[in-house]
Amino acid sequence: MTTPSPVTVRVPAKVNVRLAVGAARPDGFHDLANVFLAVSLFDEVTATPADALTVTCTGPDADQVPLDRTNLAARAAEVLAARHGIEPAVHLHIAKNIPVAGGMAGGSADGAAALLACDTLWGLATPREELLALCAELGSDVPFSLAGGAALGTGRGELLTPVDAGTFHWVFAVADGGLSTPAVFREFDRLTEGTPIPEPEASPDLLAALASGDPHALAATLANDLQPAALSLRPSLRATLDAGLGAGALAALVSGSGPTTAFLVADEEAAAKVAAALEASATCRTTRTATGPTPGATVLPA
Ligand code: C5P
Repeated sequence: MTTPSPVTVRVPAKVNVRLAVGAARPDGFHDLANVFLAVSLFDEVTATPADALTVTCTGPDADQVPLDRTNLAARAAEVLAARHGIEPAVHLHIAKNIPVAGGMAGGSADGAAALLACDTLWGLATPREELLALCAELGSDVPFSLAGGAALGTGRGELLTPVDAGTFHWVFAVADGGLSTPAVFREFDRLTEGTPIPEPEASPDLLAALASGDPHALAATLANDLQPAALSLRPSLRATLDAGLGAGALAALVSGSGPTTAFLVADEEAAAKVAAALEASATCRTTRTATGPTPGATVLPA
């Protein structure tokens, strides 16, 4: 039997154009109405046959990526192998470009990419619905990393309905260090204690703006209920948001649970201008520009 060739999967980051958060549920999660947009910042995960499960990582922030079984890519290989009653005998290499612990679903992206790469390497042809269910076991944002495009996530964010979206231009300001997602949700609970929390919903205005492709319409409807919590834990992000708005961004918000901040801009030219101003402002570590929507996890040609 010949050894199968390595399989590489490319997977995008995401930004939440609407992150509506409901009250904490008995299981500790929060019901969400989470409108995801996949954007053109990519990690690549390569699966190669090996004697045992190992993970390596390269890229500017590789030193912050865990290489043990807490890495969602490793967990993806384990759950897929367990599902099919085989050994997770694979080496996973992550070429990391998505900011780490930044609120852009970088870890979730690697989980979805590893799942698809192993499924292809091992010739399992797991049905799409089953792959999405395995993604949901790995984490709330992982199904969207597999699906890509633009989608409304309900439940804890894992139940996806695709939505229409035109193309939008973004600048992302990467902060120093990460923010823990559970810590940001706990801060949300603390800040909202004693106040009634409405059922989370995606506003029809936002969905219409997203479909229209008009960045001015989308700018008027972007919102992230986790932003006050992220700003409470990291007050310096306010200066980053202000620097991007001052440079002409149409809207600014914390991406997911942060601390990456996202700036919606009119076009590529505005993106370059806002990115340069953010870099000069010294209110962030670095910037990236991207467009979205973009497809989800995709096997690259060999
Ligand atoms: O699903 P995931 O493992 O990414 O979630 C990480 C943590 O974020 C959860 O343990 C929980 O504290 C918080 N979370 C939440 N409600 C959600 C999604 C995540 O409270 N809908």
